[in-house]
Amino acid sequence: MNVLSHVRPGDEMAATRIYCEALIQKLRPFFGTADAAAEFLAPHLRHDRGVSAVIDGRLVGIAGYRLDGQGLFEPKWRHFRERFSLMGTAIRVAGLALLDKEEDEDVLSMDGIAVGQGARGAGVGSALLAEIVAMARRAGKRAVRLDVVDTNPRAKALYLRCGFVEEGRRRLDLLRPVFGFASVTTMRHHLTDAAGSA
Ligand SMILES: CC(C)(COP(=O)(O)OP(=O)(O)OC[C@H]1O[C@@H](n2cnc3c(N)ncnc32)[C@H](O)[C@@H]1OP(=O)(O)O)[C@@H](O)C(=O)NCCC(=O)NCCS
Repeated sequence: MNVLSHVRPGDEMAATRIYCEALIQKLRPFFGTADAAAEFLAPHLRHDRGVSAVIDGRLVGIAGYRLDGQGLFEPKWRHFRERFSLMGTAIRVAGLALLDKEEDEDVLSMDGIAVGQGARGAGVGSALLAEIVAMARRAGKRAVRLDVVDTNPRAKALYLRCGFVEEGRRRLDLLRPVFGFASVTTMRHHLTDAAGSA
């Protein structure tokens, strides 16, 4: 397996498909299906906001991050407007912003991690997390932050194993029926304490 600190040109659709299929729970309210989400988002993938895992030349996993105000996908208002009504655009832009994390200069925020179904359970996700942590360290950050939904205990177990600790919980309250999960746990990997070093 090769873990790259970027997404290769040409891998946009493969990366976006894996991402949308894995994270459909968050994306369904905005796009309906993983295919529709991937078709909309792929042209707006930023190659320098994701690390990727490649096996035998084929992309099998992707992990996004936010840096300097830019995340893994950066569609603009006008791109939504080309596809959706004014109201549809407003709902999607506002709703997706709700899922965004606040930025903190010292902290690298993750923007989703996804491994293709056939490649799961073989260490790809752990390798992507290690690359994100290494990148944060190179960038002089103090920590890596991510959100995990309360319906994903296995992902949470993976993060704990990789050195992340629980930091807090955000309830979605009224939005629960929209997303299908009630709360999001924020986890943090501290880069300065020796025990948390990768
Ligand atoms: C979570 C995910 C990125 C882990 O990638 P991975 O390559 O399977 O991870 P690794 O092989 O390094 O580690 C395996 C561990 O990942 C966790 N895991 C979470 N979901 C898993 C799944 N569907 N299949 C296999 N492992 C999964 C488990 O803790 C597993 O260990 P276990 O078998 O002891 O329970 C991947 O399973 C995935 O894309 N899941 C769907 C999307 C998702 O949940 N993303 C995280 C949102 S917060």
